[in-house]
Amino acid sequence: MKHKIIDRLHEEEGFISGEKLSEEFGLSRTAIWKHVNALREDGYEIESVTRRGYRLISSPDIINYDEIKGELTASVIGKKLIYFQSIGSTNDKAKELAAKAEEGTVIVAEEQTSGKGRLGRSWSSPGRKGIYASIILKPDMEPFNAAKLTLLGAASVALALEDCGIESQIKWPNDIIIGGKKVAGILTEMSCELGIVNYIILGIGINVNQSVEELPPELVDKATSLRIAEGKAIKRKHLLAQVLNRLDELYVQLKVTGDIEQALDICRERSAVIGKDIIVVQGRKQRPGHAVSINHDGELMVRFDEGLEQVISGEVSIRTEYGYV
Ligand code: BTN
Repeated sequence: MKHKIIDRLHEEEGFISGEKLSEEFGLSRTAIWKHVNALREDGYEIESVTRRGYRLISSPDIINYDEIKGELTASVIGKKLIYFQSIGSTNDKAKELAAKAEEGTVIVAEEQTSGKGRLGRSWSSPGRKGIYASIILKPDMEPFNAAKLTLLGAASVALALEDCGIESQIKWPNDIIIGGKKVAGILTEMSCELGIVNYIILGIGINVNQSVEELPPELVDKATSLRIAEGKAIKRKHLLAQVLNRLDELYVQLKVTGDIEQALDICRERSAVIGKDIIVVQGRKQRPGHAVSINHDGELMVRFDEGLEQVISGEVSIRTEYGYV
């Protein structure tokens, strides 16, 4: 009911009386008043004036469906959004729900208590500071192609940031960087059988409004947030809607054409690695090389001492004047 009341307050330009609300929703005025108070506790600023009623002054930057649905244009991604105040990991929750969930279902949380990064690392996910979202995808593709979806995720984040006026670069395959520091990452997980993908979970983590003190101290040299990089707080709900809309465009294109050429172009144009000396870390091996391009399959083409090779996965460090980062 709370959701219906906030929708109604959003709709109304000025005041709406308690009487009208109680008539419309078939509730007593006391019940309406209780719901309004619960909404205030959620962070909505609602003015109440005797004989005039209630008026919505401002909404909190929360990323539930009610708050972002007005901005969603998606045809597949985000048709259903499951919201948590706090959760271990949205990727884990998405995996739990994936078998029965509709493709495009998004799991979001205000906070993750065991956020996961790539390669068994953790992902710092303090409450209401970042975007922590996992999207359930069921593409008709061979499992060996699944890594391409990471690039789709990275391209969507870069485009969404651009929609918000923020320039970023993509460090193949899954990092979004600003000013040489990581601001977002993608964690792609898959369930498959021989030749068939059951589902893919595309986990997107963006550091949005963390201050320097709110970043893990050991990462301050390597990581940043949009707020630190831009010098101002960013509306998470707007950014999340843009990410989902951009991902929807690229994903629908993949479904229709079977390729990810547009996403690849975005990754190439905004690449932080192409043309750079890099180190490719694969397991225990560290191989210095020169990043040449990203090929049609989304693989990184690297010139090593032994010659030109495709790199399918791995981690890349880029050479800077201070060494490799
Ligand atoms: C990385 O760069 O290492 C990937 C980070 C991915 C973090 C996101 S936050 C939402 C989703 N849930 C998780 O536990 N991880 C991903």
